[in-house]
Amino acid sequence: MECCCRILTSSIGKKVQVALAGLFLCVFLISHLAGNLLLWGGPELFNHYAEALEANLLLPVAEIGLVVLFALHILVALRVRWENKQARPVGYQVSEWAGGRTIGSATMMWTGLAVLAFLIVHLKTMRFVDHGTEGLYKHVMGQFANPGYAIFYLVAMVALGLHLSHGAQAAAKTLGVENPRITPVIQKGGVIFAIAVAGGFGAIAFWACWLAGGR
Ligand code: HEM
Repeated sequence: MECCCRILTSSIGKKVQVALAGLFLCVFLISHLAGNLLLWGGPELFNHYAEALEANLLLPVAEIGLVVLFALHILVALRVRWENKQARPVGYQVSEWAGGRTIGSATMMWTGLAVLAFLIVHLKTMRFVDHGTEGLYKHVMGQFANPGYAIFYLVAMVALGLHLSHGAQAAAKTLGVENPRITPVIQKGGVIFAIAVAGGFGAIAFWACWLAGGR
């Protein structure tokens, strides 16, 4: 037990927690994107999907799991960053951009905080609302009828894309998957995944705004 605690609170243990929570959150993103793409099928299909989801008895368990994953990913990542800063004397601090880093890796904390800000607004306007009898489809489309709301989503998706573009490679490195043949594949795969996921959500926001009259 004591040994387990020591592993979890070690520097590498904390990084592994951030990496694993991030990977599970990617699984959520894929399923959430797949569900949201049903908006393109029209009100009947999307509302049917939303009602089936809400009726699922396992939903509360999945939601608690999500909260734990988000909290773990964010809080432990911030702690690791703070400890790294403490361990590095001021004179030795190097620029975030040093050593040929990508924009994704250099802005990881800022894009992460931007996604967190997005999430707070997103949950307040999409999850914790009473859409009464109008159905979730009408509620979602109604939100995107406001072009400012859609633009906010598009900007947030740029932040999400940058965050994800470095995430896969960072997680692989933490989990010890590093080799001259595999690393470039993971890097490219991470960028493709980031573009597909952020682009998919962005396309939905753009389409919904356009269709809802924000054009
Ligand atoms: C076009 C983009 C998006 C749309 C249209 C959308 C739509 C929705 C809707 C309608 C809900 C409420 C579902 C319900 O009450 O049954 C929801 C919940 C949620 N969304 Fe999104 N979403 C989008 C992007 C995102 C992104 C990028 C993230 C994460 C970074 C995210 C994270 C969440 C979370 C965590 C929940 C709560 C899940 C739950 O409680 O079951 N969403 N979203």
